[in-house]
Amino acid sequence: MSYAPNTDIVIVGAGVIGLSIAWRARTRYGPTVTVVDPSPGRGASHAAAGMLTPVSELQYGEESLLRLGIESARRYPEFAAELADAAGLPSGYRACGTIAVALDADDRAVLKDLHTHQTRLGLHSTWLTSRECRRLEPMLSPAITGGLHVEDDHQIDNRRLVAALLAACDRAGVRLVRERVERILVTDERAHGVRLANGRELSADQVVLAAGCRSALIPGLPPEVVPAVRPIKGEILRLKVPPAMLPLLSRNVRGVVKGGSMYLVPRADGELVIGATEYELGHDTRVTAGGVYELLRDAHELVPGITELPLLETLAGLRPGSPDNAPILGRSALAGLVVATGHYRHGILLTPITADTVAEVLAGGTTPDLIVPFGPDRFAPAARKVMA
Ligand code: GLY
Repeated sequence: MSYAPNTDIVIVGAGVIGLSIAWRARTRYGPTVTVVDPSPGRGASHAAAGMLTPVSELQYGEESLLRLGIESARRYPEFAAELADAAGLPSGYRACGTIAVALDADDRAVLKDLHTHQTRLGLHSTWLTSRECRRLEPMLSPAITGGLHVEDDHQIDNRRLVAALLAACDRAGVRLVRERVERILVTDERAHGVRLANGRELSADQVVLAAGCRSALIPGLPPEVVPAVRPIKGEILRLKVPPAMLPLLSRNVRGVVKGGSMYLVPRADGELVIGATEYELGHDTRVTAGGVYELLRDAHELVPGITELPLLETLAGLRPGSPDNAPILGRSALAGLVVATGHYRHGILLTPITADTVAEVLAGGTTPDLIVPFGPDRFAPAARKVMA
């Protein structure tokens, strides 16, 4: 390049994805990194529950996503320990395991199918009778009809993760600019920086688009490289288990309740996260009475004791959905532009693997094999037509 850029890398979006890429790129490879976001860590990363559950959330036809999720989960303990050390703050990682339970006979059949599929893929999960489920989690309702124990599916407190990433980035010298990106700057078929809402421009050798579901809304890019992401709303509740009732639950509980699925995620400090609804309603983040009702009703079917708990917070976030429910990672067809979005239900789970692989790409390495199936080009116009 013929000019001196303000920064080697500018990252649009300071959620867990943008921040973890910034931290990894800066500390592993040494470039100057600037992250731009008007409200760092306050989007989907704030609303999430933090389940690290690739095996219990397995879906048919998503085997390459499963591999990515399992590899990311495998890296989590080391990633979390390194982050806590770098940040001087706890990461919120909790190796607690997950139990998936069924309410009625149809729900049990759904979980039985899941168990067969998991076993076929060589995944570790154990079928439990209702009584065995309640031996592990005594506060579960006697009405449940059975379940699965997945010992290797854990959790991380997503809000502690955000706080640790912000602190680690700060200590590593990553610059955080609390502004909105108004436009990605593209000249001569190369992305070379961003224009901020305050009119300032930041030039960079590489631009990383990691703005979650807003990644498709930022002007400046040729249409063929705009990531195919859309908002998928999720409502979530936070309750508090009083010390006298601890532990209400000791592990993540996923429930299949009359055909719907939901989850309860207990933190070590007594917070209980209950989620999540799923709607396609554009960028609407209003919490509805119906959403809260459904979550409480289903949670109560599984764990009747929850009705005694103080309800601390109701919140809606927007997951960045992609056409095949998998993330969009790597170099785009536009020189200078790297994409890291579309993580849908798995942004927190996929944080370590996204950070490691995208930082490697930014350092000029070849695209790691693990993320080759998730390249931005799979949704190029011709590919989009085939998928439609
Ligand atoms: N990963 C959980 C959710 O998106 O609701």
